[in-house]
Amino acid sequence: MQNNIFSGLFVGQNLITIKQVDSTNNYLKDLLSNSKPVSEGTVIMAESQYAGRGQQQNRWHSEDGKNLTFSILLKPIFLAVTQQFDLTRAVSLGIINALEPHLGAQLKIKWPNDIYFENGKLGGILIENIVQGNQIKSSVIGIGLNINQENFPLDVPNAVSLKQILHRDYDLKLLLSEICKNIEAAYLNLKAGRLEFVRNAYLERLYWLNEHKMFKARGRIFEGLIKEVKDNGLLVVFDGDVASEYNQKEIEFLNKE
Ligand code: BTN
Repeated sequence: MQNNIFSGLFVGQNLITIKQVDSTNNYLKDLLSNSKPVSEGTVIMAESQYAGRGQQQNRWHSEDGKNLTFSILLKPIFLAVTQQFDLTRAVSLGIINALEPHLGAQLKIKWPNDIYFENGKLGGILIENIVQGNQIKSSVIGIGLNINQENFPLDVPNAVSLKQILHRDYDLKLLLSEICKNIEAAYLNLKAGRLEFVRNAYLERLYWLNEHKMFKARGRIFEGLIKEVKDNGLLVVFDGDVASEYNQKEIEFLNKE
């Protein structure tokens, strides 16, 4: 479906909106496994997901019709599998750049790819890559952002929405078009080989960068300092003079001051 509020070249030009689906990521992956080709930049947006998926086998909860739950198809065949974290960086940055005019500098990326406002989680990203040989053939980028929801279940204590912060309702399609435009711009930077630019811009927006904070990792609680994120996506945290690299399962941010 053509939609003229989408001003980018390809992301969002083919927009499929669905009332209810298990998960937009599943829907897009099923579409890809059918024989008909699916154009790069196709976006599947759902009003309601009954089995929304988050990172690390978690569920993604979202009140029907209130938030953005969508998936974008990208075909980053120019990226090697070892560069897949650059896609995570570009997508996170695109979302940050789209929301920046509304939320300003307190908007951060909590490593690896949560969207944070102050200490609240505004959204998350679930990227599922289809790999062929050493290349990423296609990438299903699932994005959930809390927009107009006012109350969250008690088991997601740090969730926050745009409406809770700014006390007004937002037009979901309009926000989606801004996000698509900015993700496309960041993705085209990757495609043009401007990896360092994307890496630096990601690092500049990193939550807790260079701040002394409490972490739990490998059975220990310690005060650490995030210094960098490796090209492969590992988080580098200093404990005194000793730097260690962690994957997502190994380290927990302890939100205690
Ligand atoms: C996270 O755990 O932070 C990632 C959440 C990703 C949720 C989005 S909602 C649209 C897409 N479909 C899914 O099932 N998950 C992603």
